[in-house]
Amino acid sequence: MDNAKFYETIYKRKSVRKYDMNSLDDKTLDDVKGFISKIDPLIPGIKTDLQVISQNDVKSFMSIKAPHYVVVFSENKEGYLTNIGFMLQQLDLYLSANGLGACWQGMAKPAKDIVSKSELEFVIMLAFGKPAENLYRSDRSEFKRNSIDAIRNKADFDELLESVRIAPSATNSQPWHFDIEGNKLYVNCIKLNPIKALIMEKMNKIDMGIGLCHLSIAAKHLGKNVNFSLGESSAQNVPKGYFNIGHVEIN
Ligand SMILES: Cc1cc2nc3c(=O)[nH]c(=O)nc-3n(C[C@H](O)[C@H](O)[C@H](O)COP(=O)(O)O)c2cc1C
Repeated sequence: MDNAKFYETIYKRKSVRKYDMNSLDDKTLDDVKGFISKIDPLIPGIKTDLQVISQNDVKSFMSIKAPHYVVVFSENKEGYLTNIGFMLQQLDLYLSANGLGACWQGMAKPAKDIVSKSELEFVIMLAFGKPAENLYRSDRSEFKRNSIDAIRNKADFDELLESVRIAPSATNSQPWHFDIEGNKLYVNCIKLNPIKALIMEKMNKIDMGIGLCHLSIAAKHLGKNVNFSLGESSAQNVPKGYFNIGHVEIN
């Protein structure tokens, strides 16, 4: 899929929670699997496995009912959750751009035999199928999000950061903050109290990858190069209440 289509989809997508429960046809599922095989990682060298499974292979009580799901496994290495956020958001946008609904599933789990067959760690799932509700927002004002002022230290790179501002996140938590110094954007994630962190820290690290996926698509669209340096805590001014996960250089 070309970058212009990804960019356009960022500004109209939404989570779809109601599905036509009929299976998608084989050609569509093959196209989805074909796209999955070409997804770009954020951090090369982390083993991942994205499998398409059906409703029968999911423990249903914590998930939305959908005909299909993508279940994600990964090697547990530095930055792997953010890498998965970056990767799976490409699929969320691909599905939406091709007329299919999708919704990230932070609480859902696949059946035991699916998990036990993989040598990698189970990370997260994404429900998808033919939507039985509106696929897109009719207007940008329908994004319920924090203001742009809340996510950066000064007004710069706003066209890029707008794409992050409206990105999806677990419980719409929007954990990102950017500290801009010259052409470097220091990427910060919200710090949680230990109780909240039990569930949400994992989700927020995935969310950060989703935001960086949008940033990368927006940068390409605007003819800019992005260079990610993650896991290097080189930040000088991490705002109170956040931790740094690395920086992005824009050229
Ligand atoms: C990591 C992650 C986990 C999520 N888990 C769930 C979930 O378990 N159930 C659900 O209904 N939505 C889930 N969502 C969807 C968010 O609630 C949704 O993205 C957010 O409220 C913003 O709305 P939008 O996607 O329509 O823009 C999840 C989103 C992310 C990014």
